[in-house]
Order: sequence, then C-alpha cells, then structure tokens
Amino acid sequence: MQASTTDTRLQHPRSVERLVQGQATSDGAGVKLVRLLTQDLQRRLDPFLMLDAFATDNPGDYIGGFPDHPHRGFETVTVMLEGRMRHRDSAGNEGLLAPGSVQWMTAGRGVIHSEMPEQQDGRMEGFQLWLNLPARDKLCAPAYRDISPDQIPTLTQPGVSVRVIAGSSHGVAGAVQRDGTEPLLLDIRLEPGARFEQPLPAAHNGFVHVYRGELSVGDTLVRQRRMAILAQHAGSDGVRLQAGTDGARALLVAGRPLGEPIAQYGPFVMNSDAEIFQAVEDFRAGRLA
Ligand code: CO
Repeated sequence: MQASTTDTRLQHPRSVERLVQGQATSDGAGVKLVRLLTQDLQRRLDPFLMLDAFATDNPGDYIGGFPDHPHRGFETVTVMLEGRMRHRDSAGNEGLLAPGSVQWMTAGRGVIHSEMPEQQDGRMEGFQLWLNLPARDKLCAPAYRDISPDQIPTLTQPGVSVRVIAGSSHGVAGAVQRDGTEPLLLDIRLEPGARFEQPLPAAHNGFVHVYRGELSVGDTLVRQRRMAILAQHAGSDGVRLQAGTDGARALLVAGRPLGEPIAQYGPFVMNSDAEIFQAVEDFRAGRLA
C-alpha cells in the first residue's frame, strides 16, 4: 500500500528534551544489546517500558538467544532488520522472525516463550519495544501475530519512505491499531537532506531512535545510535525530522500515556507489588503457561 500526500506544514513542532545514549547490557542467554529506554525513563515515556537495540555481525553476541522465559502484563514488539529468530510460546504459537518482519506479542495474563537465532553466522539487527497494557487489560488472553514485510503499509513522499507498523501516518493506516495507548510506530528512511513531518497529539509521549546516519529534530542534531526524547509543549502539533548529508533511518515512537502505577519485576509489569507477587507465584506454580 502506498500513498503520497502534501499536508500542511507543522506550526509548532516539538523540540528535543534530552538525548539518550543507552546502556550496553546483555539479556537472555548472553545476547548483547543496547538498552535505550531504561527503567528510569518508564514514567517519562509512558506507555512505553523498554526499547532494546541489537546490531552485530558476531554470532557470539547473539547465538545464545532468549531461551524459555515468562511475561505478564504488557506487549512486546520485535522489529527485525537483519537475521532470523524462531519464536515458540506456551500458547502453541510458532513463527520465524525474518528480515523486515515485525512480531507483536500480547503477553496479557501470561505467556512463556523463547526467541532463538535460526542462523549460525551473519548479521543480526533489530529492536524490541515493550508497550504497557492498561490495568483493565493486563490479564487479557495472550495473543501473537507475525507481520511479514508485505503486510506493513508504506508511505512515500519525495526522498522519504515510511513503514507504518502501528498507528497511522498521513492517511496510511498501519499494520496494528490499539485503542487506549494509541501507539504510533514508524520505521522511517530519509534520503540525504530529506524532511519528514509527523503530526502528534500534544499530550502523547514520544521519542526518535536514529539507527543509521544522523538527522535533526527541530534544531537538535541526533547522531547515530542515539535516542531523542521529544519535549512536551502545550500546543505542539508534531515532530519534524531532517536527514543529514548521508541520509538517515530512524524509529519514531509515540503514544498516549496511561498515567497508572508501574510495578516491574523482570519480565512482569503490573500496577502494584501485590500483583507482581501474584505473577511470580503463578509462574512458579505453572499457571502462566
Ligand atoms: Co521475551
């Protein structure tokens, strides 16, 4: 699906509140990654809980994969750029995450899954974003969807190509829509010097992660592998990106904050400590699968 539009320009684009470098860490069975959205930013970037980036040509950095582990209370969104990972879960779902695909998993009341590399060498690159569920949906039935590259609508403008994974952009509806948090997830490719504007509700939290080249958000230069937290101004109408001389690729993520308490213990994200204790107890008792 394609569309080309000429919208009126933004009048009050957002500036950058803060640039984030992320923290090198490892997760699963030793998979090396950079955690860009860390736990201390969960309130500021509500309803998003985590963003990890992984990008390596070294199999030693990813070969251990993510063996069986549980989740409860939120959704995981995996964006694969390069490489192949096999997903299996306790709800009986199995899928291959291939280059250009997206996996959207709703953990809800509980799922146990594994994500293991289906390659011995070669490049592995992508992202995992965690999106919170509203309190009323945290114990919903688990769900899982593999979204192949051809199921992701693309918006094109001069010098700009946008994969609309969730939400909508310039009249192009994305592959996933969510009430409540209204997440927007765009994978944006900009030719050298190209500009892209995305309207955003002023009350929504948002950030931009640049993973190739560099770009400007308003007057702020955002270099490769940095995340820019978008400032909140009353009356702002969106965000304006302009690529540097080498072009850029970036994720733009935004959503409506839930404003609910966040209680996280590892792979469980609930609203209170009591609910976390219950999640751990249910997992130990085999009630998550
Ligand atoms: Co997981």
